[in-house]
Amino acid sequence: MRKNLALSKKVNEESSHDIKLDLDVRCQKLIGKLLQQSCPGVALFGEEGSTGADNAPYRWVVDPIDGTVNFAHGLPHAAVSIALQERARSKREADYPDGYRTLVGVVLDPFQNELWTAMRGGRALMNGKPVRVSRIRTLREAMVTIGFSKSRASLEQALPYFTWLVRRVRKVRMLGSAALGLTYVATGRLDAYMERQINLWDFAAGGLIVQCAGGRFWTEPGAIPGKYRMIASNGLIHSQLRIPR
Ligand code: IPD
Ligand code: CA
Ligand code: CA
Repeated sequence: MRKNLALSKKVNEESSHDIKLDLDVRCQKLIGKLLQQSCPGVALFGEEGSTGADNAPYRWVVDPIDGTVNFAHGLPHAAVSIALQERARSKREADYPDGYRTLVGVVLDPFQNELWTAMRGGRALMNGKPVRVSRIRTLREAMVTIGFSKSRASLEQALPYFTWLVRRVRKVRMLGSAALGLTYVATGRLDAYMERQINLWDFAAGGLIVQCAGGRFWTEPGAIPGKYRMIASNGLIHSQLRIPR
């Protein structure tokens, strides 16, 4: 990603509000190969394709480039997001309706050299040092981020929410990488992050990192299969936030 940031990139697909690069696919191939070498047989559920059985006991959840539109424009705010999940023994134990729960979360920002890691039940670390969420208690003091997802419909539904939110918080920032939005909440740089129609690979790692940093991470399956509504926060302002269906 570092090497390619300023270079022109091959576009595989373009739509009104999204770009897909050849590098998305190439990065996932490389990540998949390295994970396979170190942990043979573990399934992979990735934005650019999946391998292994649907009900595999363990799986990697991979977003090879999170923030592709930023990256395509040469804007150095994008990340690699990898989570390790295990198949839960019961519905109650599962984090997500497809029966999995996250054990490990890793997010790398190759441009700032920042690496967040978390293991379920442990602390969230950034470059090996513990991080924690902010202590802001009111929306009035909060700096939050929202994502608009990719479709026109989701954009239209998120706009009234944006106007509701922007009047209540100190600042709304839209940064373009869900994984970094979550790690910024975990590090206390932002107080909350909300998005509707977001995918598992966007938040599996970052969600665990928020929880291990003392924050609250909530998701619910949305109307479209595979898409979720999500609120991540420092916990203290969580009940003051909402996200449209
Ligand atoms: C997108 C980014 C964006 C978020 C979208 C994601 P991608 O991921 O994280 O910030 O708003 O919902 O899909 O396509 O760059 O991997
Ligand atoms: Ca993503
Ligand atoms: Ca991606």
